[in-house]
Amino acid sequence: MAASVTKIAYQTMQQGKSLLGIAHKQVSTQLMDLVAPKANAETIPIRAETLEALRTSMDYLLERDWLEAEQGLYPTSQLFDAPWLDWMLRYPLVWLDLPNIWNRRLRRDVRDLPNNVDISNFPDYYLQNFHHQTDGYLSDRSAELYDLQVELLFNGTADAMRRRILKPLKERLSRANLASGALRILDVASGTGRTLRQLRGAFSSAQLVGLDLSNAYLRQANRWLSQLPGELPQLVQGNAEALPFQNESMQALSCVFLLHELPAEAREFLQESVAHNACFDRRWFGCGQLPCLDMPWVCSMEDLAWPKALGLKARPSLRDLALAFSIPVWAAHRALTDCIYIAQVFERCDDLEALLLEALEPRQLYQAQVSYAQRQLAKDAGFRWNEPIKGAWTRRLSQRQLQTLELPFEAKPLAG
Ligand SMILES: C[S@@+](CC[C@H](N)C(=O)[O-])C[C@H]1O[C@@H](n2cnc3c(N)ncnc32)[C@H](O)[C@@H]1O
Repeated sequence: MAASVTKIAYQTMQQGKSLLGIAHKQVSTQLMDLVAPKANAETIPIRAETLEALRTSMDYLLERDWLEAEQGLYPTSQLFDAPWLDWMLRYPLVWLDLPNIWNRRLRRDVRDLPNNVDISNFPDYYLQNFHHQTDGYLSDRSAELYDLQVELLFNGTADAMRRRILKPLKERLSRANLASGALRILDVASGTGRTLRQLRGAFSSAQLVGLDLSNAYLRQANRWLSQLPGELPQLVQGNAEALPFQNESMQALSCVFLLHELPAEAREFLQESVAHNACFDRRWFGCGQLPCLDMPWVCSMEDLAWPKALGLKARPSLRDLALAFSIPVWAAHRALTDCIYIAQVFERCDDLEALLLEALEPRQLYQAQVSYAQRQLAKDAGFRWNEPIKGAWTRRLSQRQLQTLELPFEAKPLAG
């Protein structure tokens, strides 16, 4: 009974935050249209099915946030943790800041930063007004408004998104069998410390370290975190591209809302590209406006070994994959909706990291040794006729796949 009341309270609070975020964006955009119409960027309407997919994703996020708290992965009190009074008092400042944002947008100025900043201390990409933020990440004023602005931007789901790191961290760390007191977790680009706060709730006795380039954001993090009971996280000013820590001095690392802001050179070392039918998609990169992606590709149709229990074909369509994860499919074969479906599938995967690591294992082309009458066996096992070898049923497989698939025919490795 108590749990259901708490759940209703959580849902109601989230609905309130979501409405506030939407209303804030609508009213401020209308005001901008009126006062500074030229500041408004040209936009195209979002398709109804894309909006629907986003809404489904948001509902799923909140449901999962509640469930994982109930499972004891973090205290339920975290779901309600926010400096409400502080945000209420600061909300008028968000409005007072809007004319500065409009002015910058009118001037197309994305490098409007405080004069007192020594720019030689920062990488070039960092010296900009991310999301039109006044002062970028380089002032106390920006740090004081940041949490509230992010909540408004994400319609109140920012903390629920941050908490998604806690379950995989807990599961991985419990498997690592660490000696008690040995756990050190580094939060890279810790900003104002919201993720560190959540980590403290989930790992009460761990040593936490937050690293960020912005002294102003670290100061704000210190103000918030020093209100918490328990050991204060250590806050370090530094660059994520050259972490100032010894190898193996941390047992876990988290990083939230950073990668989308980094230029390709700064993030390519930790990424791979994922596409459904990557063979088709990858050929467009490096042509026209699409950048060259010099990183491993993972194909969610060919390379990922989806759990047998899902009953999927060997090379499932994205539609079947989404449906197998109970994701409603509204539109197929639009680039954006395809990306949303893959992201939603990944959200629902229990052990995504292991799945991706397995997908990156070396693969070799194998030819199915089947007669004409047996061709369906090869097809069912994901082998393709004429592709890439004419007149043969072939498929790229890792050693592990070859062993686990238990193919009902012989598969011969092909050179190259
Ligand atoms: C969008 S905020 C995310 C902050 C925080 N993780 C959160 O969940 O709100 C991005 C943060 O990354 C920091 N940052 C950006 N580039 C960085 C780098 N190369 N090294 C360290 N911090 C960086 C910024 O100072 C900022 O605090």
